[in-house]
Amino acid sequence: MRSLSYVGVVLLIGVVACASFGTAFAGEEAEMCVPLGEITLQAPDSVETKRAPVEFPHGSHLTLACNNCHHTWNGTEAIVGCMTSGCHDLSAMPKKPDSNAVDKTQVFRYYKSAFHGQCIGCHKNMTLEIQKMANTLAGIDGKLPTTGPTGCIKCHPKE
Ligand code: HEC
Ligand code: HEC
Ligand code: HEC
Repeated sequence: MRSLSYVGVVLLIGVVACASFGTAFAGEEAEMCVPLGEITLQAPDSVETKRAPVEFPHGSHLTLACNNCHHTWNGTEAIVGCMTSGCHDLSAMPKKPDSNAVDKTQVFRYYKSAFHGQCIGCHKNMTLEIQKMANTLAGIDGKLPTTGPTGCIKCHPKE
């Protein structure tokens, strides 16, 4: 059973609606509020930012499978933020000890790499896939489906 309630989520700007997954998972009482509007994604406080924060339209991504992005979610517990400790929790590019060389094994933990990899990566791949489909004999009728932006200022508006 899924019911709708209207509880605010700190991250949310604009539409404040919350889907409650009350008894949906494993018979537990865990509640999870799913932001249906935009989420502002911004750098951790320690970062001297070069770009404006990103208004991420979570709502228009909910047609995609959740675990495209929430890739550690097991479906039973509440979803946690991307920069949770142990996840994408580094605010700078990781370096090897006593060296200026990038520690490639830890790059996934750098929050910026994670976001750019996911966000831009998917928008690019989908665009390529759509173009490939459009170029087959069957083609695609009418307007090609849209994906998201890959250009800097589309995501980070000029300040
Ligand atoms: C295209 C990527 C993407 C997809 C698909 C997606 N989300 Fe999210 N979601 C995010 C991002 C990014 C955040 C912000 C996380 C943060 O602030 O660190 C978020 C935040 C959330 C939060 C709030 C987490 C918190 O920190 O409190 C919930 C709950 C959530 N999503 C549920 C879902 C569910 C359920 C689905 C599938 C129906 C889904 N999301 C699909 C990217 C996505
Ligand atoms: C798994 C694929 C996927 C991922 C990951 C993804 N997107 Fe998208 N994005 C899409 C698709 C598909 C659309 C087109 C949606 C539509 O037109 O309804 C889109 C559209 C957008 C748009 C334009 C939306 C609008 O309403 O006009 C923005 C902005 C955007 N994405 C930002 C992001 C950001 C920021 C992230 C990373 C947090 C992200 N996306 C991650 C697939 C993805
Ligand atoms: C699909 C959306 C998207 C696109 C396109 C995109 N970024 Fe980002 N970028 C993000 C997200 C999400 C973050 C993490 C939140 C934040 O720090 O603002 C981020 C973080 C950053 C950061 C670290 C924070 C800061 O302000 O210093 C920089 C620098 C940056 N991006 C530069 C760029 C540049 C340059 C481009 C173009 C080559 C670009 N981004 C394209 C979504 C995007």
